[in-house]
Amino acid sequence: MKILRTVNDLRQFVASLKADGHSVGLVPTMGALHAGHLSLVAQANSRGDKVVASLFVNPTQFNNSDDLATYPRKEDDDFRMLQEAGVSAVFAPAIEEIYPEGVGKASENCHFDLGPVAEVMEGRFRPGHFQGVALIVSKLLRFVEPCRAYFGEKDFQQIAVIRRMCETEKIPVEIVSCPIKRAESGLALSSRNSLLSPDQLEVAPEIHRALQSSVERSMQGASVAEIVADVTARLDSFDDLRVEYFEIVDGITLQPVADWDQTPYIVGCITVYCGSVRLIDNITYRRPDSHNC
Ligand code: PAJ
Repeated sequence: MKILRTVNDLRQFVASLKADGHSVGLVPTMGALHAGHLSLVAQANSRGDKVVASLFVNPTQFNNSDDLATYPRKEDDDFRMLQEAGVSAVFAPAIEEIYPEGVGKASENCHFDLGPVAEVMEGRFRPGHFQGVALIVSKLLRFVEPCRAYFGEKDFQQIAVIRRMCETEKIPVEIVSCPIKRAESGLALSSRNSLLSPDQLEVAPEIHRALQSSVERSMQGASVAEIVADVTARLDSFDDLRVEYFEIVDGITLQPVADWDQTPYIVGCITVYCGSVRLIDNITYRRPDSHNC
């Protein structure tokens, strides 16, 4: 596995893969890797792509400086895991390589047209976050020009925003969405889980439990409003959990739905603070046949 630090080296390496007739798959990450990230690599391998992973804690997508400062960084472990997963190259640039103009200037000058999918949920609670995501992902896609890029459904809204960005920026790539990987407890794997205390790790799986039982209740006739109120109250009843938002939305437009027969694809998206650690998760309530994984 090649470790690439500059855009020039990245472009050269990718050009050599393409010259040898390979299709290239891009797996963007911010490191502190876990089985969720590796499932994206496995998906890319299974499609026959040569995999280029990126490892870059992107400062322009953090709207909270504490979150950026405490974000876990484990580069050596990450390299080892990517190598074992069969990645061809990892692009792990310094900040100046990506933002030579400075992070502040880069953020200021960044105005992607991301539409309504970026205005709700994470867009409302993390102003500027999706502009930063669009900025880094558009740069990576332009450096690598992959056939496919792989993203996890854990960040459900992020996928919708990236699809929209690729459309408006006219970036020709297939965006592949991959299912959420969970710990045995049900907790969605996340780099931020390493920041949880043992007690918090005990309580955090309640998020998935509450979502799962809400799917059963939705089948038994509970309304959208009842589910939203119940899940929020159930999770808020734990000392260490505080729901920031829980919205039941159309799986394509991400706009809130009022009842179950309003649209064929319905997803519940949640963000919960566990102590000071912000965790996100989601669950599907209704899925049209064409969206089966
Ligand atoms: P990061 O949080 O490191 O996640 C990288 C990719 O792994 C994302 O596509 C994310 O959805 C996916 N992922 C994370 N946890 C997962 C899980 N439990 N199951 C399946 N997939 C999972 O998301 C980002 O980084 C950044 O915003 C990035 C796209 C790299 C841009 O900076």
